Amino acid sequence: MKKRIVVLTGAGVSAESGFATFRDTGGLWEQYDVQEVASHDGWLRNPGLVLDFYNARRAQLKDAKPNAAHLAIAGLEKDYDVDVITQNVDNLHERAGSTRVLHLHGELTKVRPEWGLYDKTFQEDEVIDIGYSEVKLGDLAPNGKQLRPHIVFFGESVPAIEKAIDMVSRADILLIVGTSLQVYPAAGLYRYAPPGAPIYIIDPADVPVYDKRITHIRAVATKGMEEFIATLQA
Ligand code: OAD
Repeated sequence: MKKRIVVLTGAGVSAESGFATFRDTGGLWEQYDVQEVASHDGWLRNPGLVLDFYNARRAQLKDAKPNAAHLAIAGLEKDYDVDVITQNVDNLHERAGSTRVLHLHGELTKVRPEWGLYDKTFQEDEVIDIGYSEVKLGDLAPNGKQLRPHIVFFGESVPAIEKAIDMVSRADILLIVGTSLQVYPAAGLYRYAPPGAPIYIIDPADVPVYDKRITHIRAVATKGMEEFIATLQA
């Protein structure tokens, strides 16, 4: 039976595809106020601004390409049973060929009707794939409500977290690539890895968490994936 590798990724895996990360110097949260463009209250205050922010990200995604790290992660499927859990809202893992990708924080290429006043949940069948097109104020879902990005805003729950916990708890190896591990609940996922499972973290910066199972590969994602694969083959 193939070993199971669970890969948890963050903005760092897409950095070499030209996407700014969030918290690094020059990152998105230096250029934008996260509370205005990516929070539940921000949407209620100024939905047009939020739509424009994600329209710009979606337009950038159209021209972006998966990098060697995305491709290397997809290539692991040749010898391993691989689940990718990503905090990223881009589709670069899928475009690199990964077949099992769970998006914890939503997807740029999808939208859904905004909630009712008291109803902040959504149904899977309400989610609409719009590819790389724009969404404007006044663009309505079939149920008559304003379309909103299919993104988990700050202040909202993370519906996919239970599924992610289940995946991590069945990992033989956990690989974490390019996340600052600052945003919960994603940041706590590594704790669900089985006691005997090694944990590799690829990141050029310090690792903010401690666990004796962790091996830190201090490198950018593309180089780090080469090192990780060499370790698997050793
Ligand atoms: P962050 O911007 O917080 O962290 C990016 C991480 O990538 C940092 O640890 C960097 O050191 C690392 N990094 C930078 N360049 C890299 C490279 N070339 N290769 C590998 N690593 C590199 O991004 P996330 O941890 O993904 O959520 O942020 C988590 C969530 O916060 C995001 O999903 C987003 C954001 O607010 C929502 O918007 C809901």
